[in-house]
Amino acid sequence: MVLGVGSFAHSHAQILQDAGARVSTYLTRNYGHFPPSLVGPSFSAQEHPDPLPLLKRLKVDFILPQSIDWAQAPWAEALLHSGIPILCPTGEAMLIERERDYARRLCREFKIPFPQSHVVPNRLAASQVLKRSPRPYVIKNPLCSPWSPVHTIVCETVEETQAWLDRVNYAEGVFLQEYLGRAEAGHIALVSGGEIRSLVTNQEYKRAYAGNQGIVCGAPMGGLVEKDPDDRYGLARELLHPLRPWFRRVKYHGPIQVTACHHRGKWHVIEYNIRLGITSGAMILRLLEDPVNSLWTTARNQKLAPRFRKEFSFGCSMTLAGYGYPYLKVRGPRTPVSCTAPLDCDVWWNEVEGSTDGQRVAVGHRIADVVALGKTRETAVRQARTNIARIHCLGAFYRTDIGDNLWPPGTDH
Ligand SMILES: Nc1ncnc2c1ncn2[C@@H]1O[C@H](COP(=O)(O)OP(=O)(O)O)[C@@H](O)[C@H]1O
Ligand SMILES: [Mg+2]
Repeated sequence: MVLGVGSFAHSHAQILQDAGARVSTYLTRNYGHFPPSLVGPSFSAQEHPDPLPLLKRLKVDFILPQSIDWAQAPWAEALLHSGIPILCPTGEAMLIERERDYARRLCREFKIPFPQSHVVPNRLAASQVLKRSPRPYVIKNPLCSPWSPVHTIVCETVEETQAWLDRVNYAEGVFLQEYLGRAEAGHIALVSGGEIRSLVTNQEYKRAYAGNQGIVCGAPMGGLVEKDPDDRYGLARELLHPLRPWFRRVKYHGPIQVTACHHRGKWHVIEYNIRLGITSGAMILRLLEDPVNSLWTTARNQKLAPRFRKEFSFGCSMTLAGYGYPYLKVRGPRTPVSCTAPLDCDVWWNEVEGSTDGQRVAVGHRIADVVALGKTRETAVRQARTNIARIHCLGAFYRTDIGDNLWPPGTDH
């Protein structure tokens, strides 16, 4: 059972179904209900406030969550007691994503480079940090949740940092992390049976517009993954493997993703996530020979040896954003989504609904993720680009440069 909505639930449910699983979705948020309903039975949290009876009735073997907010749900304890495995670390192991300062302390303990960072409770304390240690900071939520009052604001100068510090919401405090430039990459692995198994190195295109212009969006405008079991770029070696004693101590099993910036000759951790990732997950599952088994093995913390399909080495994902994005307060009416030619790669619908005449309509800001795989980066990018250009929706746009820049890892343009 997938816990999630939109293109995450659509893609993960469909790919696992294609690989032989019987799938269903528990819709954890109040939007993006239509796409996963195209795959298997789906149940809204509103109608089913407690998913446990469903899990039992459907004899669910394991759960695949979109985000870490399930752990805050009133039924989280009961879920853990039910013994149904969830593809997500639990207990202390979750803190590596949930609490940014926990990740910082962990990096210090294991000598992993991490930018200078401070947790501050209010505007006065934030200004004092900036006075004492004047440098540009990225402003983040100290506790990660899809519902945080603060979304990451990337400031590149001291003056920009001060301007935003005068404006942000301090209800949960803020996490100030030294800005380390634009050379960024990520690496995703599965941890199971005490071992770290590398899957891909990836790039997320976080800025709104082509040329890496505009603000850093809440969710990426595109992504690139390269199959990388041997850790070609050294990200796992430098930023994940030193954590092995911690992984074992907290009985970590599940996905781990590190996002890092290359700064002064080395990689620095800017964030750890404990999931496959909204953008990368749909590509990773398609690259695996037996995705159901790899996830099922990890959920049960058993010895894992993921196998990859030979015909593909790269995946490219492009997001079609709608009217108003990335400024969430600007919203348009419901408008039709149409295709000018048949689509011949994966298209995962997001804030889209079906109308009674079978037409698709856009009802929100993120319309679809178009995903192609290829032997080379160029073939994957070309196919995604050809397909996304076939989708029409008034006011919609996508980045025309996904996959062309910020690659190979360490490149900042
Ligand atoms: N310290 C930093 N230096 C430079 N860029 C950063 C830094 N921290 C975050 N960013 C940029 O902001 C994006 C989002 O930040 P991240 O820490 O991954 O938070 P979240 O994914 O929760 O929004 C990153 O992908 C990166 O592009
Ligand atoms: Mg991130």
